[in-house]
Amino acid sequence: MSNSTKPTDSQISKACQDILNKNWTGQYTMPADKLYPHQWLWDSCFAAIGWRHISIPRAQQEIRSLLRGQWSNGMLPHMIFDNKHHNFTKDSNIWQSKRNPYAPDDVATSGITQPPMLAEAVVQIGQKISQLERRSWYQDIYPALVKYHQWLYQERDPHQCGLIVLLHPWESGLDNSPPWIEQLHNQAKPWWIKLIERLKLDYLASFFRRDTHYVPPGQRLNNLDALLYHAIMLRLRRKNWDSAQIMQRSHFMVEDLAFNCVLVRANQHLLDIAKVIAHQLPEDLLENIQRTEENLEKLWDAYYSQYFSRNFISQKSLKQPTIATLLPLYAGSVTPERASELVELLHNKQVFGTKYPVPSVPKNSKYFNQHRYWQGPTWVNTNWLIIDGLKRYGFNKEAENLRQQTIQMVGENGCFEYFSPLDGSPAGAENFSWTAALTIDLINQK
Ligand code: GLC
Repeated sequence: MSNSTKPTDSQISKACQDILNKNWTGQYTMPADKLYPHQWLWDSCFAAIGWRHISIPRAQQEIRSLLRGQWSNGMLPHMIFDNKHHNFTKDSNIWQSKRNPYAPDDVATSGITQPPMLAEAVVQIGQKISQLERRSWYQDIYPALVKYHQWLYQERDPHQCGLIVLLHPWESGLDNSPPWIEQLHNQAKPWWIKLIERLKLDYLASFFRRDTHYVPPGQRLNNLDALLYHAIMLRLRRKNWDSAQIMQRSHFMVEDLAFNCVLVRANQHLLDIAKVIAHQLPEDLLENIQRTEENLEKLWDAYYSQYFSRNFISQKSLKQPTIATLLPLYAGSVTPERASELVELLHNKQVFGTKYPVPSVPKNSKYFNQHRYWQGPTWVNTNWLIIDGLKRYGFNKEAENLRQQTIQMVGENGCFEYFSPLDGSPAGAENFSWTAALTIDLINQK
């Protein structure tokens, strides 16, 4: 796709389709060959949004295969391990999901979740089928969807304020976003990591890391931070992935802005789905849905005129702007005045208005690094969410510009995992599924 002549939309679409076909395992779409061979929760939702333009059965299968991994308490794990197609039993052995009695018997999963994009994907598929088919599609998925949303509130909203608490940065989907990194560095380190640090042995971690085997190390977490992420995972595993037990002792808990914005939108979709199939959502869930919308406003910082994530224990906001800053547009519940303030940031060249927008961290942040993942690069999934939000707030010109810029960036550089917001240069994994799927969707939005 990177010839000197500009590729047409249909050429770009065809190239994207080839990638989806290549990454299709027969059951789900892997995010990228080699680096991400398993099934990821929000990746599959984005993949389904692309597949719906190519094959509805495949889009539906993508979603159904996600539900294989659902725990009996409703939790949707962020990863389902595919040990059939790949010899990666090592990965599932690390997670040991079966330590938790609610984990499924027949499939190995992780023990944490990811942004609740499921309702969005279900509705996007629903929009492409007849009314009759839509009803039966919604009826099919509804029980699992309700159970997942109930799990979020039952297990991850201990103050019953409607804001979901995350226990690992991987749950945010924006793995090494600055607020999480700062939280990480404020934590006491386990003794064994202190020892590794003192003996300068952290380089040994690179022998065990898959990401830096396939992607230049400068684009990912450094070895010490990667070890700290691993240590948090081990701590959660020691508590058998039991949220209540984990929360009793941990200080590493965040009311994550991006996650809660996605939840606000997902709740709206859930209400719509229930309406179409004439179901009444449980009363407690309806109350929680209302509370999430209301209390998202508590994440607003009047001084900075922005929303931020918040540390759950101290209730202090984590004042590092990131791409999450713009996601209240996608949530759709904030006032038009506040939405306009966010759009200002999108226009500002020193903040989010770079040549290849939208950077995952604003250009004027001390964390900004054009190629380090979630600390600067532009991602197609967050662009997709922002475009969707801009449209619903009536910022049609901005939405259309960003749609075209995104398609062009992918057309010029290929379906990479992320791109430099300064010159569009591609980085991360190549042939990345959500880049392909969402580009197909953006092309079809014309
Ligand atoms: C990276 C991303 C995460 C994604 C996963 C698989 O870890 O940060 O959001 O789900 O890759 O693509």
